[in-house]
Formats: sequence, structure tokens, C-alpha cells
Amino acid sequence: MKNKYGLPYFVLLFSLLLPNGFINARPAGKKTKLEIFQPGESWPDQDGNHIQAHGGGILKINKTYFWYGEQRGKGLDPNFRYVSCYSSKDLLNWKFRGNVVKMLPPDSLTSGWILERPKVYYNPGTKKYVMYFHLDDKGYKVAQVGIAVSDKPDGDFKFVRRFRPLGHESRDIGQFIDDDGTAYLVFEDRPYGFRIARLSKDYMDVEKEMTLVKAHMEGGAIVHYQGLYYSIGSALTGWNANPNKYATAPTLEGPWTEFRDIAPPETKTYGSQSTMLIKVTGSRKTTVIFLGDIWRPKTQYDSRYLWMPLNLGDGKLWLPEPQPWKMNIKTGESSVVKK
Ligand code: DGJ
Repeated sequence: MKNKYGLPYFVLLFSLLLPNGFINARPAGKKTKLEIFQPGESWPDQDGNHIQAHGGGILKINKTYFWYGEQRGKGLDPNFRYVSCYSSKDLLNWKFRGNVVKMLPPDSLTSGWILERPKVYYNPGTKKYVMYFHLDDKGYKVAQVGIAVSDKPDGDFKFVRRFRPLGHESRDIGQFIDDDGTAYLVFEDRPYGFRIARLSKDYMDVEKEMTLVKAHMEGGAIVHYQGLYYSIGSALTGWNANPNKYATAPTLEGPWTEFRDIAPPETKTYGSQSTMLIKVTGSRKTTVIFLGDIWRPKTQYDSRYLWMPLNLGDGKLWLPEPQPWKMNIKTGESSVVKK
């Protein structure tokens, strides 16, 4: 039997199954290359879908960046919690690599349970990718971290266990890898402040507390820049933005300075909340980028991102007013793009 193409139906069917055939999730020509970062705007991945990687973290493996975050897209099975993974060479154009965690509630956790702020570390000794995330019940009373492990950066990650790091309450977590490769977890311990603790050799445990910063802050993020540690945190105001603040210290153990505003306080961090600081060391310049979430609690699938290079140095940190900007990933240079 022939169709209007003059081909037998089985040939047509076969061509539909070919990678470049008629069934193609991303029709050729639809792929656009982004040139500029646009803080607060919808941020399409290479398939044209708004990136779903909220409360996220970035891991660099060779020349590839991986962005993991809370997958809050529409139409997902509400029984599961998902972590997405994207990859990029330039921090701007991201390819969706899949949902690397799709998890049912572990043991006694029940409906409404929470998985937030995933962060992935690569352990060169075990060659495993180790993901930490905040695990909780819907009242945020469990206050634990969960660990999931994968052999590859793009999963699947298998859940291993959940616990309170060093026996302490832990809600928002942050990830910090120092210049010497040592891996740390930042976690908010509500009764006391936030703690910075070193991971064990295999990263499967939180081993040694470096410091307890007695400030009630979440969304903890750290960068080591020109011999000084800078730490940013946000106040505890739920999904509502607040003036994020920073402190500095010569070592992770401290002493930490008082916390100071990172932006005009009335802007409430331009409506965002810190999740990470990343340092891009290029051939000409080192740029530190503030990674923040602009939460939309009623339409979380449409939560946005505020990524902006910081003015940083000599113990001072300032988040400039968000504007479109671009970066040369090779030289590390960034500049604002005039409208
Ligand atoms: C603020 C935290 O930073 C978020 O990760 C999330 O836990 C919300 N609070 C929930 O209100």
C-alpha cells in the first residue's frame, strides 16, 4: 500500500522514528543561542522552556557547568519530588539533561513533604556525584538533609539516607568548595544561626564544624576571593524577599564581621534571595556572580532568577542594580549591556 509520498507505509513509519525524521521534539531551527543574561526575565533552556532549577547549585566538571535545582514545572506528579539538571559551557545557554531525582517520600515522611535546595559535589576519590538537599515535612519540623548518589553528573541519583548534620537542625543548605577542593556544607540551624561544616572524605557525611555564625540567616552562600571569605545570607521571611546581607572572615572559622547590606535595603535584594556565589576565573579576570531566586510562591513554575556579577574586593561586596549583562567565559570579563 502506498501513500501520497509514493512510499510504502512501513517506510514512512520507519522515517518517523529516525532522529531527524518527522517526530522531533525540537524542530530544527528552533534552537536559539542567548547572548545576554537578563536578570528577572523568563530564562529559556535550549528547548525554549523556562529553566526549572530553583534554589539551585552549580557544579563545574572540566569545562562543563551543571546546574541542579528544584524542578517545579507544571504537570508533574504531586506525589514525587524532582531535581532537574542542566548543562552549559557558558553559564547562559543551558541544555536540559533531565530530572535526575524523582523521589517518593522516604520512610515516615508523608504528603506535603519537602525537598529543597539540592547541591551536588563530585568526589574525585570515589568518582561519585553526591547530592545534598533539604528534606522536611510540610511544617518544616524534621529539618534534615538527604543524600542521593550517582555515577554520572546527569543521574539517576539514588537516595541513600537522611539525617541532621552533626545532630543539628538543618533547613536551607548551601554548598561551598574551597580553592583547595575541600567541600563544605552551609546549613541553617534555626535556634542558633548558620553553620559551615566540612564533609567527610567520601562526602557521605558531614564531619567537622568549622564555625557557627550566630546570625539567623538562610540561603547561605560563600565565596573565597583574594584571600578573604565572603558569606551571604537572607533573613527568615519565607518566600518573601528581604535585604540579604554579607560578612567576611580571614578563615572559615572566623572571626566573621558584622553583617552588612549587599544592596539598598529598600529593594529587598531586588526581590531575590541568595542561593549561591560562583567564581569564574578567566584568563584576564575573576568574576564572582550572585545567584538568587526570585520566588513566585503561588506560581512556583514561573519563579525567576537574578544572576548578576558582584562588585567585590577589599572586604566589600555590592550587588549592582540588575541590568542585562554579558560575560566572556574564557576571559572571565563581564559587562553591562546598554539598552
Ligand atoms: C525560604 C527558603 O530559603 C526557601 O528555600 C524555602 O524553604 C522557603 N523559605 C519556604 O517558605
